[in-house]
Amino acid sequence: MPSPARLFRLSALLASVRAIVPPGHQGAPHQISEDRTAPTSNNILIVQTVDRVDQKTSAPVDAPPNLDVAPTMVTAVDGNIVNTTIATANSESRRDLERFIKPRQSGFKKIFDGLPAAQKDASIQGTAYLTHTVVNNATYNVKACTDWCTTVEGCVFVNLYYEFNNYFLDHVFSEKSNLKCAAYADIHTAAEKLNFGGLASHSPVDNASVPFTYITRSSGWAVDTLVDPSTPDGYELVFGPTGGANNAAGYMGFDFIDRYDVNACAQLCNARGADPNGGGCAYFNIWRATVDGIPTTYTCSMYYLPTDESTALNFGQGSLRVTSSRGYARTSLLPDGGFEGFTLCSDFCFATSYANWTGTSPASGTLDASIFFFPPYAHTGHGSALLGAALGDDALPGTLTPAAPLETEAGAPYVVQCFVSSAFSASEFEAAAHVDVLWNGERVGGVHGFMEYTLVEVGVIGTGRDILAFVGGAAPAWSFIDDCKVFKA
Ligand SMILES: *[C@@H]1O[C@H](CO)[C@@H](O)[C@H](O)[C@H]1NC(C)=O
Ligand SMILES: *[C@@H]1O[C@H](CO)[C@@H](O)[C@H](O)[C@H]1NC(C)=O
Ligand SMILES: *[C@@H]1O[C@H](CO)[C@@H](O)[C@H](O)[C@H]1NC(C)=O
Ligand SMILES: *[C@@H]1O[C@H](CO)[C@@H](O)[C@H](O)[C@H]1NC(C)=O
Repeated sequence: MPSPARLFRLSALLASVRAIVPPGHQGAPHQISEDRTAPTSNNILIVQTVDRVDQKTSAPVDAPPNLDVAPTMVTAVDGNIVNTTIATANSESRRDLERFIKPRQSGFKKIFDGLPAAQKDASIQGTAYLTHTVVNNATYNVKACTDWCTTVEGCVFVNLYYEFNNYFLDHVFSEKSNLKCAAYADIHTAAEKLNFGGLASHSPVDNASVPFTYITRSSGWAVDTLVDPSTPDGYELVFGPTGGANNAAGYMGFDFIDRYDVNACAQLCNARGADPNGGGCAYFNIWRATVDGIPTTYTCSMYYLPTDESTALNFGQGSLRVTSSRGYARTSLLPDGGFEGFTLCSDFCFATSYANWTGTSPASGTLDASIFFFPPYAHTGHGSALLGAALGDDALPGTLTPAAPLETEAGAPYVVQCFVSSAFSASEFEAAAHVDVLWNGERVGGVHGFMEYTLVEVGVIGTGRDILAFVGGAAPAWSFIDDCKVFKA
């Protein structure tokens, strides 16, 4: 027998349930979501960080020729200087990752000449160094150097020069040549001839003085045609190349990378943790920063709201210029995951289905899954979906599913992201709220209990034509869902 106090609490609860106006009668949510202002691009921090990174190198004195190109490195994250590689799944994607701009044919043009042989010269100290080789030094062998460049993924520029007094070239490495050919993934100019040698290239083994290295006849050659980088898997090109970086809402932060690598940006976007208010990375902007005309770093800026060229209005400041800016949007397989396509009315209405989504009730249920046009219920915009009887007629769960199976790639990993709010009724009524995420009928994740709009993320594997479903609601423990995405992971 319940105690009098418990009986009182129960009857008070029942009285207030009766007082709740259901969503289908345009009831007011228990808690109105607070204003979620989306952060905008932080260009000041980017400019400050450009001054703090040094990505310029020349071929090392002691490195053997023909080393493999190192993976793309991240040199800064949100203003912190780092030094990490971007992990890649396999050699296939490694090759893809290193593709920046490839020569359409093997034509090269001279960017700058070497000085006459009698004068000391300098090699390039520049960004996006890849690797180097040595070519036969019987002649000044430009063709061997540019031919080799076409075999190096990402090579668009070579710097050819003699390096004298290099102990390793003269005595250690088997090639026995001092004519060095250094490959870069960006095009450099004579203004960047800043490595004059001047190193003792081995430690003295006796008291004979070690002569310093020096450089002669340093020339630069670049591919004569640049092609656009290939679009990363799971993305589409939105704009570019232009001289403007995006300045837009939904900003998540930035990474600097050591070369212009669109695939690396895509991997960084995929790996960036979701914003609690905005969801996962849905768009990135890659651009090259030049300072006084000299390539300095490569930025990937990330956003949870896709944008386009209309916001690409940051052209640089001071001596910094934005170049080669491109925007890429991440493709969601869900048609209208924000329910904004439901436009039966312009103020308040709901329905069990429309072109992109279908709501179904159990046999004895009524309106247990529905789509609403009503901004106060939405996470963003005016559309959202409701699980639980819209008019409060039963306490059965409804099922919401996209109108068509998702066109996934069999075997590929995906992430389902959705905002769920179980805060329409007071917390004591929403304690029973639940939303299950089903993938081809199997429960793969879900949430339960009272919550304001909260991001739910579930990893799944595609099988080709997949059925996604959200199941839940038990009026008065209603749940709204909104801003759902299915991204390739
Ligand atoms: C980054 O790490 C690599 C490998 O550990 C090291 O060789 C290189 O000197 C580091 N670079 C910087 C700038 O710290
Ligand atoms: C070619 O390179 C080798 C090894 O560095 C050097 O000993 C030789 O003098 C060079 N020959 C010419 C013609 O520069
Ligand atoms: C090098 O010079 C020092 C001082 O002049 C001398 O003590 C030493 O024995 C010499 N070493 C060799 C290997 O000649
Ligand atoms: C989604 O709705 C739009 C607008 O009615 C329609 O053009 C599109 O074909 C729908 N997509 C799917 C997959 O149902």
